[in-house]
Amino acid sequence: TTVRIIGAPTDYGANRRGVDMGPSAIRYAGLSDQLSRAGVEPVDGGDLAVPRAEERDPDHETLPSGTAKFLRETAEVCTRLGDDVADSLAAGETPLVLGGDHSVAIGTLSGAAREADLGAIWFDAHADLNTPETSPSGNVHGMPLAAALGYGPFAEMDWAHAPRFRAENLVLVGLRSVDPAERELIAGRGISAYTMSDIDDRGITTVVEEAIETATDGVDGLHVSLDLDWLDPTEAPGVGTPVRGGVTYREAHSAMEQVADAGVRSMELVEVNPTLDSHNETAELATELAASAFGKTVL
Ligand code: ARG
Ligand code: MN
Ligand code: MN
Ligand code: MN
Repeated sequence: TTVRIIGAPTDYGANRRGVDMGPSAIRYAGLSDQLSRAGVEPVDGGDLAVPRAEERDPDHETLPSGTAKFLRETAEVCTRLGDDVADSLAAGETPLVLGGDHSVAIGTLSGAAREADLGAIWFDAHADLNTPETSPSGNVHGMPLAAALGYGPFAEMDWAHAPRFRAENLVLVGLRSVDPAERELIAGRGISAYTMSDIDDRGITTVVEEAIETATDGVDGLHVSLDLDWLDPTEAPGVGTPVRGGVTYREAHSAMEQVADAGVRSMELVEVNPTLDSHNETAELATELAASAFGKTVL
């Protein structure tokens, strides 16, 4: 298996600067070596060009209603990212996208769901299902799933839409910070979701087993989206929107090992913010978890 590393150094979608340094930090933490040890062949395609946020106007995009900061810039980057992901898949590779903030998932999902029916597991403290109308922050990193599924004003934006990705094949795992409108969408659109309490009650193995079953039911491949704030902030301090009470180091590895057994078609590592990290440990964690997701074993 060839894993193509695609850096997407954005911070348009986050509420603070620094997450654009994520791809460098993850590479510096030894991603390629980790992947090689997992038995896959890493190919680093470098970073997408991302214009600096300071040179742009966050409010440029005119929406019928609501706020989505840097939406035009996000659209521009995600369009190119979607093409790169689709090209990589067409070449028989497994794309691994390095964020950047979680808005890059709009590009990954749209590219990965272009020629195949896609299921996805979203490992995250957050649901990322806000629309510009429901977002409490206006930050697009809280909206990628709504965008990919075409909810709210995103229905009119074809760059955002992931054509062959359906709510029935989306599973959220590890939730502990969900906004009211997101709660409504989860219930109303039949999106499978597991909170931290579900993991407490039933254990990570059972939860992830069910998640894989639901996400892969009737589709061609599985996308794994790993927001590092999924883990407890004691394990992963280098994230912009930490929420206490996340999964442990071992639970995270266990989940990635299950995902490896199921087979990963595309993956992304997002929200690593080196300016908030301590000694690059969140970036290191990201590389280790990627290795587990691509099949690294002890023996
Ligand atoms: N729900 C909050 C919002 O919409 C936080 C989202 C955080 N998302 C993330 N990918 N870290 O602003
Ligand atoms: Mn999150
Ligand atoms: Mn659709
Ligand atoms: Mn997220």
